[in-house]
Amino acid sequence: MRPIRVAILGVGNCASALVQGIAHYRRSGALTGVIQQEVAGYGPGDLEFVLGIDVDARKVGKDLAAAIFEKPNNTAVFEPDIAPTGATVIRGAVLDGVAEHMREAGEDGFVISEGKDAEQAEIVTALKETRADVLVNFLPVGSQEASEFYLECALEAHVAVVNCIPVFIASDPAWEALFRERGLPIVGDDIKAQVGATIIHRRISQLFASRGVDVERTYQLNTGGNTDFMNMLDAGRLGDKKTSKTQAVQDALAQRLDAKNISIGPSEFVPWQKDNKVAFVRVEGEQWGGVPMHLEMRLSVEDSPNAAACVLDAIRYCQGARDLGEGGALIAPSAFYCKHPPRQMDELDAERALEAYNIEQAHAAE
Ligand SMILES: NC(=O)c1ccc[n+]([C@@H]2O[C@H](COP(=O)([O-])OP(=O)(O)OC[C@H]3O[C@@H](n4cnc5c(N)ncnc54)[C@H](O)[C@@H]3O)[C@@H](O)[C@H]2O)c1
Repeated sequence: MRPIRVAILGVGNCASALVQGIAHYRRSGALTGVIQQEVAGYGPGDLEFVLGIDVDARKVGKDLAAAIFEKPNNTAVFEPDIAPTGATVIRGAVLDGVAEHMREAGEDGFVISEGKDAEQAEIVTALKETRADVLVNFLPVGSQEASEFYLECALEAHVAVVNCIPVFIASDPAWEALFRERGLPIVGDDIKAQVGATIIHRRISQLFASRGVDVERTYQLNTGGNTDFMNMLDAGRLGDKKTSKTQAVQDALAQRLDAKNISIGPSEFVPWQKDNKVAFVRVEGEQWGGVPMHLEMRLSVEDSPNAAACVLDAIRYCQGARDLGEGGALIAPSAFYCKHPPRQMDELDAERALEAYNIEQAHAAE
C-alpha cells in the first residue's frame, strides 16, 4: 500500500504535533498513544506530507519539517530531528484567516508574508502537482471565507478533506452535497481531542443522565497560551466555536439546558501557558430527593498533540473511503472524531457506529 499523500492548510501548532507524531511513529515503531493501530489497512506511519499552505513569512518557502518549528508555534517539541519532508510551504491567500489583532501582535501573532495572495488556480495546481490525497484544514477559528476558498480548490483538485476547525462544511448539507457529488470523502467538523474537555464533559453529562441525576447548570472554562487562544480573543470570530462546543455537550445531556444555564468556550489567553490548555468543568445537578450535588474537574493537557491522534485517524478514514470510491461526509468517523458532525451521536453510539463502519469497510475491501 502506498502512503497517504497529505497537504496541510495552516502550518501551526496542530500541524507541528501531527508532523512530529508521524516522524515519531515511523522512527520508533511505538504502539502507544494512538487510538487505532490500523485504519483501512494504513498504520500510523503511512502518511507522507506533500504540501504545506500558510501565509506567515516565517513559514512560507520552507520545508514543512522546518516550518513547524517556526514562531509563533509553541507546542511541545517531542521529535526534534525531522528529516526534510520534501513538502514546501507555499503562500496561500490571507482573506479572513488573519484577524486584525493577530497582525498587530507582531511576532507573537501572525506575520504576513510579502507578495500577493495566491489565486485559486495556483492552489489547485499545487494540490494536483503534489498529487495530494487529503487536505487537512488547520486554519484559525473564524476563517469562513478562507476555508471556503481552499475547500473549493480541494473539490476542483479532487482532494478529500479533514475539516478540523469550527467552520461548518461536512455538517452543512449544501457543502456536503458537493463532496458527495464528486465522490470525495470529508470528515468534520471541528476535531474532538483524544482526551479533551469536550469528550470528558460529554461523558460526565452522560454519566449523570444514566444515573438519574438531572443537570441544572454547567460550565466549561478553557485557558491557554497558543495562537489558537490568542485568535479567539476576538469574540466576533467565536460564534461557530461556541456553537460547536456547546451543542456537543447539550446533545449529551438528558435534557437540553436553557442557554443561561450552560456556558462553554475559551475563557482566557494566558501567554505563559503556551500550548498547555487548562479546562475547568463544573456540573451542578439534583439527585435523590432533589438533593443538590456538584462536580468540579480540572484538565491540564498539551493542546495540539491532543488533536493529532484524532486527525491521524480521520485522514486514514478519508483515504480508506477514497480507496473504495465512497464520497460525502463519513458519518461514523465524523461523529467519533469531531465536535460538530453531520449526525451527532452519544459517545458510546459513536464508538459502536465506528466499529460497525470498520467491519463494513473491511468487507467492501475484500
Ligand atoms: N488543538 C486542538 O486540540 C484543536 C481541537 C479542535 C480544533 N482545533 C482547531 O484547529 C485549528 C488549528 O489550530 P492550531 O493550534 O494549529 O492554530 P495555529 O494558530 O497554531 O495555526 C494556524 C495557522 O494558520 C495560518 N494561517 C492563517 N491564515 C491563513 C490563511 N489564510 N491561509 C493559510 N494559512 C493561514 C497561520 O499562519 C498559522 O500557521 C484552529 O482552528 C483550532 O481551533 C484545534
